[in-house]
Amino acid sequence: MARSGKATVIGAGFYGSTTAQRLAEYDIFAEVVLTDIRDGWSEGLALDLNSSRPVEGFETTVVGKTTTVDGGGYEVIADSDVVVITAGLPRKPGMSRMDLLEVNAKIVRGVAENIAKYAPNAVIVVVSNPLDEMTRLTQLASGFPPSRVIGQAGMLDTARFTYFVADKLGLPVSGVKTLTLGSHGDTMVPVPSACTVTQDGVTKPLTDVLSRAEIDAIVERVRGGGAEVVALLKTGSAYYAPSAAAAAMVKAVATDSGAVMPVCAWTTGQYGISGVYLGVEAKLGKTGVREVVERPLTADEITQLRAAAEAVRAKSADVAGL
Ligand code: LAC
Repeated sequence: MARSGKATVIGAGFYGSTTAQRLAEYDIFAEVVLTDIRDGWSEGLALDLNSSRPVEGFETTVVGKTTTVDGGGYEVIADSDVVVITAGLPRKPGMSRMDLLEVNAKIVRGVAENIAKYAPNAVIVVVSNPLDEMTRLTQLASGFPPSRVIGQAGMLDTARFTYFVADKLGLPVSGVKTLTLGSHGDTMVPVPSACTVTQDGVTKPLTDVLSRAEIDAIVERVRGGGAEVVALLKTGSAYYAPSAAAAAMVKAVATDSGAVMPVCAWTTGQYGISGVYLGVEAKLGKTGVREVVERPLTADEITQLRAAAEAVRAKSADVAGL
């Protein structure tokens, strides 16, 4: 099999290291780079991941590199096709994603500037929180066109939504389709009108299968899905589902697949919303977002989406000065 291209993951915490693992195990890249500011940490993980290759049967080379806050070591990311930013602090129990705004803004800004310097043609996938604001900050700090900076949130929130519905109905996850739009936070917009369930070969709207109250309860659980994991783990936040979501986006970009995925993307008039990063469906390929794809939504869903856009817009204005 021909392997090509280079994917880089910045930040080797649980989210970053599991993302690098998934990307390496796809076995489609020539090289996966993992960086961290903890001395020797990413080199150690790379050594460990490379040693798993004979067992897992992948040939992608994993390169680990310690970087410094003043940009030392970043030459390792040169010519990356896709760079995932996981750098920053995760939540602690009781914290909202927004509580991380100031501390993570400083970290993400520095990372974005180094990506612009060393991998000026890359597509960037941002996962640091608060997600929508960090995606905007990355775009501003990198100077990249908005189409080349995408945030990961909708894939994760949608995956949680699908799992919760499948679990409630005792169905395989493959028999459930769901969707979330909006922000990766309080103004997340789960979209019941786009959800379907396939049972015994028959596909039905979710609203035919679950009551309004049952759907509302699941929607609330999806909104708090990240916090539910944080509360259980007590230190750190979720990483298996988040890394699966981020890696899938990287794969869509690297393979130029044209897959339509819910992601945080720059809006240019879709649903009457412009000039803000927001969770929408977008077609992904080598150039990042090929296009934002609109679907029919109910009046209530559009109202919620517009409210989410204004909430993110207000916070993104704060971020620009951090
Ligand atoms: C979550 C974090 C990663 O939702 O935002 O789990």
